Amino acid sequence: MDSVLLNQFKEVILAHTGLFLRQEDYPKLDKAVQDRMRVLRITGEREYLSRLTSNTPASHLEWNKLVAGLTTAETFFFRDKGQFKLLRDHLLPEIVDHRRQERKLRIWSAGCSTGEEPYSVAILLSELLPDWQEWDIFILGTDINKSSIDRARQGHYGAWSFRMVAPEVQETYFHRGRRGWQIVDSIRRMVTFRTGNLRQDIFPEYQTGIHDMDVILCRNVFIYFHREAIQAVVQKFAQTLRPGGYLITGHSELYDQPLDHLKARFFPESVIYQRDDSAHHSDPFSTLKTFPSVTKPTVPEPLVERNQMDVSTPPTRKLPPVVVPIVKPPEAKTVLASPLEDAKAAFRLGRYTEVIDMLGKQLQTQRDILEAYELLAESYANLARYTEAAECCWEALRIDPYAPKPYYLLAHLAEEQGNLKDAREYYKKIIYAAPEFVPAYLDLAHLYDRDGDSKRAQKMRAIALSLLTQLEADQLVEPYHVTVADLCNELKNITSCR
Ligand SMILES: C[S@@+](CC[C@H](N)C(=O)[O-])C[C@H]1O[C@@H](n2cnc3c(N)ncnc32)[C@H](O)[C@@H]1O
Repeated sequence: MDSVLLNQFKEVILAHTGLFLRQEDYPKLDKAVQDRMRVLRITGEREYLSRLTSNTPASHLEWNKLVAGLTTAETFFFRDKGQFKLLRDHLLPEIVDHRRQERKLRIWSAGCSTGEEPYSVAILLSELLPDWQEWDIFILGTDINKSSIDRARQGHYGAWSFRMVAPEVQETYFHRGRRGWQIVDSIRRMVTFRTGNLRQDIFPEYQTGIHDMDVILCRNVFIYFHREAIQAVVQKFAQTLRPGGYLITGHSELYDQPLDHLKARFFPESVIYQRDDSAHHSDPFSTLKTFPSVTKPTVPEPLVERNQMDVSTPPTRKLPPVVVPIVKPPEAKTVLASPLEDAKAAFRLGRYTEVIDMLGKQLQTQRDILEAYELLAESYANLARYTEAAECCWEALRIDPYAPKPYYLLAHLAEEQGNLKDAREYYKKIIYAAPEFVPAYLDLAHLYDRDGDSKRAQKMRAIALSLLTQLEADQLVEPYHVTVADLCNELKNITSCR
C-alpha cells in the first residue's frame, strides 16, 4: 500500500478508535488491512476504506476485526500484583465501608480483552465480602474487540492466563474441563460483558449503566492511544466516576496528561487517580486516613511515597536488608536446610510476613544463602514492599552475579514502576547470564510488543519456543506454573494470531 493510503487509514483509525499508529507500525497496518481484504475478497484498499467509514452494521463489525489485528489482547488473571494488592488491601475495603448502607458497588473494566481483569476483581470482591450475594454488585467488562468479549462471556481459559496465579486460587475458582479451565458460575455471573468503543461511545450514560462507577480500571489500553484521544477518554472517565471514585490505569499511561477533575494519589504499588470535586463540593473520601496523597504527604507505615523508592541501583550497605527481632541464634544443626524449607512451605501458603521472619533469623547466622535472599525478595515484593525486595535482589546478586531470578524480579519491580527501560536491561542481562531462562524472553517480548516492536517480540518468542522444545512436555515452567506443553501451545497460538 502506498504511503498516502496508509496515512488515510491511520487518520481514520485514529478518529474511530483513538489508536495511534506510528511510521514503524505501518507494516503491521498494511498486513492487517491486506488480511481483512483477503477474507472479504475485496481487491482495492479504497473500497475497504469506504466500507470502514460507511457507518453501517457491517462497518461496525469490520472495525472489530481490524482493531483485533492492530492491538494486542494480551492479558492474564491478577495482572500486576501491586495494583491488585492495592485494590484488595485499601481501595475496595474503603469503598465497601463507604457503601455499606446502600450495599451497592459499581466497577468497570474498560478494555478488558478476554475478561481476566474483571473476573479477577469479582474473585477479590467475593473474598472481601462474605455476604456479597446480598449486595447489588455491577462489574462491567467492555472491549472494542467482539471476539474477545465473546470469549470473556464463555469464561474458558488456557494455562497461560494463570501465569501469575497461585494454584489454590485456580483450583478454587475454576473447573478443569476439556477446553481448559472454566470459571465457576457464581463468579461468571458477577460480570456483565459488552462491546464498546472508548473513543466513540458517549459516557456517562444511564441506559447502558455506564455511570457512577466506584472504580474504573483501564489498564494497558492507553499505551496504543494518541495523546489527545487519551485526554478525551480520561475526561469522560472522570464524569463517569462517582465523586471520590478511582481510575486505575497502567503504570505511567497518564504521565504528563492534564487531569481534569482527577487527583493523582501516590501509593507504593501504583499511582492512581481519584475523582476530585473539591472545587465544587466536598470529596466524600477526603477524610480516609489510609489514603496518602500528594496534598497529604503524611504516609502511614508501611506505605512510602513512590518517589522514595529506587530499585535501580544496588544499595551501598551490605547487610541483610531485614529488620529481625533479636533472638538467640538457633542450634547449628538447625541452621542450614530446614529453615529454608519451612520458609518455602510458608511462602506457598502466602504467609509472606512469616517467611521474612524465618529467613531473617537464618540470615543472621548465615549470610550467603542465595535462595534465602531470592525467597525474601519475592516475599517483600508480594507484600508490595518494593524497596526491601530490590535490596534482597541485590544481595542475592552479590552472592551470584549470574543468578537469573533476582534480575527477573528486579525487571518486574522496574515494570511496576513504569521504568520499562531498566526492565528491558534486566531481561537482557538474564539472557546473557542464563540463556536458558525462558521467562526472560517472553517478558521481554511483551515489552517489545508494548513498544510496537513486533519483529523483536516475535524473535524473542521464537527463541523461547525453541528452548522449550528441548524440555520434557510435562515439566513445569516457573514462575508461570504452566507445563512446557501448555506454554508451547499458547506461544504457537500467539504467533499465529499476529
Ligand atoms: C492489552 S489489552 C488490556 C487488557 C487488560 N485491561 C489488561 O490490562 O490486562 C488492550 C485491550 O484494549 C482494547 N482496546 C483498544 N482500543 C480500544 C477502544 N477504542 N475501545 C475499547 N477497547 C479498546 C483492545 O481490544 C485490547 O483488548
